Amino acid sequence: MSKCVLVSGGAGYIGSHVTVELVNAGYEVVVADNMSNCDLTCYNGVCSIIGKELPLVKMDFCDISAVQKLFTEYKFDAVIHFAAFKAVGESVDEPLKYYRNNILSFTNLIEVARKKGCNILFSSSATVYGESETLPVTERTPRQQATSPYGNTKQICEDILRDSVKAYEGINGIALRYFNPVGAHPSALIGELPRGVPNNLAPFITQTAIGKRECLSIFGNDYPTEDGTCLRDYIDIVDLAKAHVCAVTRMVEGRMKDGYEVYNIGTGRPVSVLELVKTFEKVSGKPLNYKFAPRRSGDIAAIWADPSLANKELGWKAERSVEQTLAAAWAWEQHLAEK
Ligand code: WQD
Repeated sequence: MSKCVLVSGGAGYIGSHVTVELVNAGYEVVVADNMSNCDLTCYNGVCSIIGKELPLVKMDFCDISAVQKLFTEYKFDAVIHFAAFKAVGESVDEPLKYYRNNILSFTNLIEVARKKGCNILFSSSATVYGESETLPVTERTPRQQATSPYGNTKQICEDILRDSVKAYEGINGIALRYFNPVGAHPSALIGELPRGVPNNLAPFITQTAIGKRECLSIFGNDYPTEDGTCLRDYIDIVDLAKAHVCAVTRMVEGRMKDGYEVYNIGTGRPVSVLELVKTFEKVSGKPLNYKFAPRRSGDIAAIWADPSLANKELGWKAERSVEQTLAAAWAWEQHLAEK
């Protein structure tokens, strides 16, 4: 019988891509989402890609009775937890909104899941490393004091999972630390759908190219990097999604070496903002209207992953090139424009 995975926040950007890869790998999937930061676009896109309807439960993980009800209706082998707020700037303005939602939803989930022996995968972030003196960062690189409440919730939730796995029998946990997820499914049926003006670079690039935004501001060209712009590790969303399948399979097949494990999910390849822009121009054939602007507060000059632990232990490796990733992001933006 196939194993069943709950994907909380499964109607969003990362959750929808993970759902597709789980189904491709033979898992049953139940999607749960409060739909507070997305519409049905990605859920419908997932159903078109996989050729069937999936259970979609509209619920909020802050409501523990709703979580209990869900776990009595289904038997889950693992849960992947995406349901959280994710806007760094908003978290600075409204810290309590972030602490309440992101931490309460996760503690509720663990509380219920642990009693059912359900393994837990938490979506963490490279933001936990802050500005590291040594690059690339490995999982042993010390975490640094978070610079936003959003980042702090990622650290706190990692710790909650670590401590819970240690204290309670019968559950395992994995935290995946994502670098910069970008791109879209090659079908162009699912992708990133930012509400309002995008904060992140890739959607700002594609929205400028399609004419939704007038001009991309490149924040800072005086960083101590080769071309003066920041370096990041842009990880293709489909590659990222596949890492979740590897991690879930490791948990449900009982192959973990520790009850709680942490993995960097990145390419190991630093790319500058300017390189990303130039590569986009090349793959789309469209010149991009951009200008240099002052540094954005809170940005670090450079971070990229050492993904060798995930390569070895999860048997996972990023495969797609920056060109393929940006071509997919561009196809998705064009698909949205045709709708
Ligand atoms: C990338 C680079 C910007 C927009 C954030 C969060 C992190 C994770 C991913 C998830 C930087 C530059 C950006 C623009 C620009 N969050 N840039 N012009 O800041 O690395 O990481 O998103 O939920 O936790 O902190 O990603 O895409 O915002 O920026 O020049 O209009 O692009 O300065 O160097 P970041 P980003």
